Amino acid sequence: METAEIDALRRDILDYAVRRKGKIYAPIDHPALADIPSEHGADRFELIASHLHSFPSLRTALDIGTHWGFFAHRLEQRGLEVTAVENMQEYLEFLYRLRSLYGDRFTVYEKNLFSMQGVLRYDLVLGLNIFHHFIKTEEVYHQFLGFLARLRCKVMFFQAHSPEEGQMQQAYRNFAPEAFCEFLIEHSCLNHVQRIGQFRNRPMFMLTSQALH
Ligand SMILES: C[S@@+](CC[C@H](N)C(=O)[O-])C[C@H]1O[C@@H](n2cnc3c(N)ncnc32)[C@H](O)[C@@H]1O
Repeated sequence: METAEIDALRRDILDYAVRRKGKIYAPIDHPALADIPSEHGADRFELIASHLHSFPSLRTALDIGTHWGFFAHRLEQRGLEVTAVENMQEYLEFLYRLRSLYGDRFTVYEKNLFSMQGVLRYDLVLGLNIFHHFIKTEEVYHQFLGFLARLRCKVMFFQAHSPEEGQMQQAYRNFAPEAFCEFLIEHSCLNHVQRIGQFRNRPMFMLTSQALH
């Protein structure tokens, strides 16, 4: 990317941050932009990466709700072939510009996750800070069940919400983190869960499928 383009990107990101208490969502892995404050650090990816050695045969990944692609970029750096799912136009614009800045090749699926068709085969799946949105209404809950039934993966990293959060008080379902993992196991090919960490009030789990491992 040319310097002028990087400067324009930096200006647009800083404008975006001003509207969000001075912070972007996740850090940007580029010297010209790495100083911009972010709500989350790289620690969640570092935790996930510390578990990847257990799965030497991982080739493909699905990052659900990729936002600006922080995890998609990091997984691509580790050699995975990534599909990043995001359906918010405002985020997609930054996602494409950052993908170009990084020189990444990951695929962007720029529609609702639930419009992905057929059996979904990805070795690794990231469901970080996203699945609680899929239990807020009965309609989306059933779409989520359909998605889980069609998913074929070896490992999923799942970051759960906290059931006390205000946004979940009127939700159709509001699972506690461990119950949410049990729900994922009941409705998908996954059959084992391990709690691997916690970031503020949101725990992180690694779910695996013994059959597909
Ligand atoms: C809270 S952010 C989480 C970002 C990232 N997973 C993380 O933890 O750093 C959730 C993202 O998922 C996207 N999203 C929500 N529902 C979606 C859907 N049905 N299909 C695709 N993207 C969706 C939102 O636009 C947003 O960018």
